[in-house]
Amino acid sequence: MSVTKTPEYDLFSPEVLINPYPLYNIMRAADPVYYSEALGYWILTRYKDVEAALRDERLSADRRPLFVKQLGDVDVNSIQNFIHLTCNMMIEKDPPDHTRLRKLANQGFTTRALESWRSIIQATSDRLLDRVQDRGYMDIVTDLSIPLPALIIAEIFGVPKSEQDDLIRWAMDIGTFWGAPGGQNIDVLARKADVASVEFTALIRRLIAQRRRQPGTDMISLLTVAYEEQGFDLEQLPSLCILILNAGHLTTTDLIPNGVNALLQYPEQLRKLQANPALINSAVEEMIRFDTPAPFVFRIAKQDLTIGDRDIPMGSAIALGLGAANHDPEKFDASDVFDITHSPNEHLGFGPGVHFCLGVVLARMELVICFNTLLRRLPDLHFDTDKPAIPRHSSLVFKGFDSLPVKFSRC
Ligand code: HEM
Repeated sequence: MSVTKTPEYDLFSPEVLINPYPLYNIMRAADPVYYSEALGYWILTRYKDVEAALRDERLSADRRPLFVKQLGDVDVNSIQNFIHLTCNMMIEKDPPDHTRLRKLANQGFTTRALESWRSIIQATSDRLLDRVQDRGYMDIVTDLSIPLPALIIAEIFGVPKSEQDDLIRWAMDIGTFWGAPGGQNIDVLARKADVASVEFTALIRRLIAQRRRQPGTDMISLLTVAYEEQGFDLEQLPSLCILILNAGHLTTTDLIPNGVNALLQYPEQLRKLQANPALINSAVEEMIRFDTPAPFVFRIAKQDLTIGDRDIPMGSAIALGLGAANHDPEKFDASDVFDITHSPNEHLGFGPGVHFCLGVVLARMELVICFNTLLRRLPDLHFDTDKPAIPRHSSLVFKGFDSLPVKFSRC
């Protein structure tokens, strides 16, 4: 009897990092519940498995064992400040701890607060485009998608302008290490993240102390009141702030170039949107489905379980393929085609289940305003064919571009 060996799929090869969807299609068809010996975790690529796993209470969101494994030779004692800041993040917690923290965090995203942020988003988008409008060219990543979401959150937190750059740099250092693949420069990233954790915590503590004396309408004021009213330890508020900043910043930073890239790759879709701007909400959902900025989220099996026809032992790490699920032809017609009128579009880009994206309303508002403004102000946007676009070569957790040069007519 011949024994067929399961192939080892290379999720990190250069061509897969640029366009992983053909590989996801192969894996979904041949090995939808796949154990990678090389990576040491399971990978799910079918919509129905990923959706069920996101709602499965037998899976834990506490990924610390996986994180520690990725550290390689880095001494855990050398990143105590990072651990102190991030160990209380609700994204790593299961109910009932998660439920309590989520209720508190909701207080920072009231409908009234969200509406008041609309003008911040519009003003920040316009300010960034003012800087490039007369140039006739820009890098979507460095000129727009990195600064925009970070500046918006800094404004929403009420961080003074003079300290916003520091806040964003520290958050990037912490976020890069948090989503880092094992191996590559991990010790350098670890050191930077630990230093940044000290600085970030000190700044947020200062803001909390100031808002206790003089409350405002910013998010730190809202959360400080909520923590105090519900008797929570304010020492843990920096953990929620770093989670909101990084979860809200890194994802949106990647979605903007992914969306611009899709629109420019499919010019008939761009023309359709420009002819009918009311399609913007549906276009943004399709951008998230088509090139999902958070392509995988991880969980740990709390007990032995079976998914599909595979038995998964307790303690296993499982990568839930949101990006792969969003291209599953069993769920989506013409799943590999970018269509801004795709309907229904029940993508998993915001990760349903108890950890469903807390910032979903803010994210949609930011993206709608950003793309509306970009297309209104730079209507003949096109790729800059003299300079290469550089897809981001990083972990499975974030998918985006390091550089996306474009051109447009000067006004
Ligand atoms: C395109 C933009 C965004 C995408 C694709 C996205 C995606 C996601 C996903 C997939 C999760 C679930 C993670 C998991 O299950 O492990 C999540 C959670 C979260 N997101 Fe977003 N997100 C975006 C924007 C934002 C924004 C703007 C904010 C806030 C400023 C935000 C804050 C959060 C927080 C705090 C969580 C953790 C929720 C919890 O653990 O209960 N996100 N997001």
